[in-house]
Amino acid sequence: MTRAVFAEGYGGPEVLALQDITLPEPGQGQVLVDVRAAGTNPIDYKLYSGDMGSDPAKLPLPIGLEVAGVIAAAAPGATGYTGPLTVGDEVIVTNISGGYAEQVLANASDVGHKPATLSFEQASGLLLVAGTAWHLLTKTAVGTGDTVLIHGASGGVGLMAVQLAVARGAKVIATASAARHDQLRGYGAEPIAYGEGLVDRVRAIGAVDAALDLVGTDEALDTSVELIADRGRIATIAGFARAGELGIAVLTGADGGQAIRDASRPEVVALAADGKLEVTVDKALPLKEAPEAHRYLQTGHARGKVVLVP
Ligand SMILES: NC(=O)c1ccc[n+]([C@@H]2O[C@H](COP(=O)([O-])OP(=O)(O)OC[C@H]3O[C@@H](n4cnc5c(N)ncnc54)[C@H](OP(=O)(O)O)[C@@H]3O)[C@@H](O)[C@H]2O)c1
Repeated sequence: MTRAVFAEGYGGPEVLALQDITLPEPGQGQVLVDVRAAGTNPIDYKLYSGDMGSDPAKLPLPIGLEVAGVIAAAAPGATGYTGPLTVGDEVIVTNISGGYAEQVLANASDVGHKPATLSFEQASGLLLVAGTAWHLLTKTAVGTGDTVLIHGASGGVGLMAVQLAVARGAKVIATASAARHDQLRGYGAEPIAYGEGLVDRVRAIGAVDAALDLVGTDEALDTSVELIADRGRIATIAGFARAGELGIAVLTGADGGQAIRDASRPEVVALAADGKLEVTVDKALPLKEAPEAHRYLQTGHARGKVVLVP
């Protein structure tokens, strides 16, 4: 018997509740993981908000796409993307459903070893945001000599996109609230405030070759298309409503995106192990406080990853 958080209806964070569940033994190619920390992401609350469907047949809905923990049981020969997996290994697990739990059953192919440089809390918040950032930088072909404008650079995805873009040799102009500018400067980016006059502030710094929109505001989208002629070098992960009209890419895990994100995992983990990719944890809350974690995430101004600890 283990406990996991489910959305028992569609609506706000109040629909989240802990339930007792029983997981089967790991089948071929699977591992059972004792969760030490579960990463939270905005998609977690969007899934039960009702905005992405409200099929009663899907309830109760398991919540949580990534965790870090310790292998409690492994099928013989189970091998993850960083090598063979055995009981006691400290790991990061992605592409699961129901990660807000004391234990999860996972496909070994979605399990990699946790770098010793990261705490369980940090590791649980590494891969969804880093994979998304990697996908954005790949699709917009950001590399050495480019200047990339990143809207929402202080968020979970943003902090990864900034560090990965700098590692690719790009110059980064990063929009964020003033309180986050020092951290962005520390990563080698040029931070600027979002809000009125953004186009002029960016122009004052110089020409921009590519833009990543991580917030989906009209300001982020309109600024990007005004400054960059080649729409193929602008991508959004949040501006779904207007991307088609503007002729820019909306990136999700669909259309091959998940394969790009999954393929990035070994390199992302290696960068974190080398201390070249930091994960900022804002809050670590007990598992039963999942509703509080989501209320905080919904402010849109978390100061790093919010994680749940069983
Ligand atoms: N399509 C996909 O595959 C995909 C994947 C991952 C995430 N997403 C989506 O991408 C978005 C960001 O995710 P996340 O995990 O990075 O969220 P997050 O950690 O909650 O970060 C949100 C960030 O948005 C910034 N922000 C708020 N209002 C802003 C504005 N008007 N202009 C510029 N920045 C603003 C905040 O910065 P300040 O606090 O500095 O103001 C905050 O750092 C969410 O909507 C999420 O659902 C999509």
